[in-house]
This record gives sequence, structure tokens and C-alpha cells, in this order.
Amino acid sequence: MRRMVAETRLHPADLILPAFVREGVSAPVPIGTMPGVVQHTRDSLRAAAVEAVAAGVSGIMLFGVPEEGKKDALGTAGTDPDGILQVALRDVRAEVGDELIVMSDLCLDEFTDHGHCGVLDTDGRVDNDATLERYAEMAQVQADAGAHVVGPSGMMDGQIGVVRDALDQIDRDDVAILAYTVKYASAFYGPFREAVGSSLKGDRKTYQQDPANARESLRELALDLEEGADMVMVKPAGPYLDVLAKVAQAVEVPVAAYQISGEYAMVEAAAERGWIDRDRAILESLLGIKRAGANMILTYWATEVARGLRG
Ligand code: PBG
Repeated sequence: MRRMVAETRLHPADLILPAFVREGVSAPVPIGTMPGVVQHTRDSLRAAAVEAVAAGVSGIMLFGVPEEGKKDALGTAGTDPDGILQVALRDVRAEVGDELIVMSDLCLDEFTDHGHCGVLDTDGRVDNDATLERYAEMAQVQADAGAHVVGPSGMMDGQIGVVRDALDQIDRDDVAILAYTVKYASAFYGPFREAVGSSLKGDRKTYQQDPANARESLRELALDLEEGADMVMVKPAGPYLDVLAKVAQAVEVPVAAYQISGEYAMVEAAAERGWIDRDRAILESLLGIKRAGANMILTYWATEVARGLRG
């Protein structure tokens, strides 16, 4: 009877797999803070993409981890056509074509030696407008490499407009923009730092939102839609379901939510100690995000859950 009357159902196609690919490694590198998640080699990433397709997952979001020596103040590796993220985009497109929506994180923090999402001014603060120029170039390079969707995640003001213009300039109105519209300055990103080898000191409070505020999210939403976002995202997911529900009610574009590294790590850590029923907790967390209004969910469990839902 419960099955019959359920208001919310998870489907494999709701799920998008975030994946890390690391330059210059010959075997996948486990991420200590995220048990079960790895920094892929180029080959293991291709295999993970094939598995995701087989499980019915609808998309993959790629993050590049360059060799340590290739990080610099401007995040040059992020706009190098032969940079690891661009190489990975080409690899995955070659492997799965259009069977998986291939998305790319459009942000500088994986590529900067200081770990910030943008370039810094002479006082060491993130320079919004100088960063926008870098994002415009990144968008074009990622589109050239085969991204179906670019995901600007740096929370710079004006980033969606700049990315849309940059794509228009190279005649790529077929590339969609998934805007990280609502992004809080969250402690739950902690485990991600190891995943991308980030050297960030300090925090991102000058560009990410204050967890105390919900209204600000609607303002971010209005701006991103006006600037040309095709889809919008709320991040993190679990601690911000109220915000997700507000956003989902307010828009006519598809809404995504990102169940981030800390949300993943908490369940895995508690399960490892036998304190929680892992599989039930995973499904419950995802169902809650869907019930709050997400059409798409980015989750590190995407392939496993999609497989389970099919079986
Ligand atoms: C920025 C970015 C971050 C995450 C996704 N894109 C890090 C941050 O904003 O601090 C975090 C994802 C996660 O924690 O799972 N490139």
C-alpha cells in the first residue's frame, strides 16, 4: 500500500554522478575523507562513465585535479585545452557520446595554488571582475572539449551572464548552463578539499552565502535567471531543504541539488561504525531532497543507487 500511495519516487535518471579525475596517476587514488570515492585516472574515469550509463544515471559532473606543479595564481591549467579537465571531457564524450549528459565544473579552485575560486587582487582578496574574464575563457575551452553542460560554481557576481556571452561568441547556444545559484559557505565541503587537493587557507565567505539567510537565495536566483541560466542548483542539499523548496516553487526551469562531500562522508562514517543503516540512510537522504523539489540530484552514490533502483 505504501508503494502504491507514495508521493515521491527516486528514479535512476534523477541522479548525476560527480567524478574527480587526476592528472598523471597510473591507478585510481582513494580519497581518505570520502571512503568509496576515488580520484580517477583517465582510464578508470571512462570505465566509471560506462558503469553510470549502464545503471541509468543521467549525467556526470567532472572535476579536474591537475599535477601539483601545474597550479598557479591564475589557474592556468583550467583554460589549457590540454588541461586535465578538458582531456577528461574529451575522453568521456568519446566513450559515451550522448548517452550521458557530460557536465564540467566551471571554477578555478581546482587549478589555483591558493585554492580560491577566483584570481586575487594585490591585497589577496578575490577579484570578482578579473575572475569573470577567466570564467569566460574556461566556458569556451570546456565547450570545445565537449561539455554538454557547464556548471559555474564560483559564486562570482555576473558569472552566468559572462558565461552565456562567451558561449554565444563561439556560437555554442547548444551548451547549457547549470548555475550553482544558491551556494552556502558550508563546513560540509570539508572532505572535498582532499578530493581536489585544495590548499585553501581561510574561507570563502566573501563570495559564498551565509547559512543564516534564505531570502538572499531568491535574489541570487532572480539574477541567474535574468543572466541566462538554463538550470539552477542549490548546494549543499540536506541542511538547506527549506531553501531548495523555496527555489523549486519559484522557478520554471529545472532545479538540481548537490548532496555534497560532507553529507556523503557523515553517512559513510556512521555506517562504518555500525551506528546507522547505510543503505536506508542513503535512500532516505535522497528521497528527502527530491521531496523538497529537486528534479536532479548530484550524489557520489549515483551509480550504486541507480543500480539498486533498477535491480
Ligand atoms: C567549487 C566547488 C566546490 C564543491 C563543488 N564545486 C568546493 C567549494 O565551493 O568549496 C564542493 C563539492 C562537495 O563538497 O562535494 N569548485
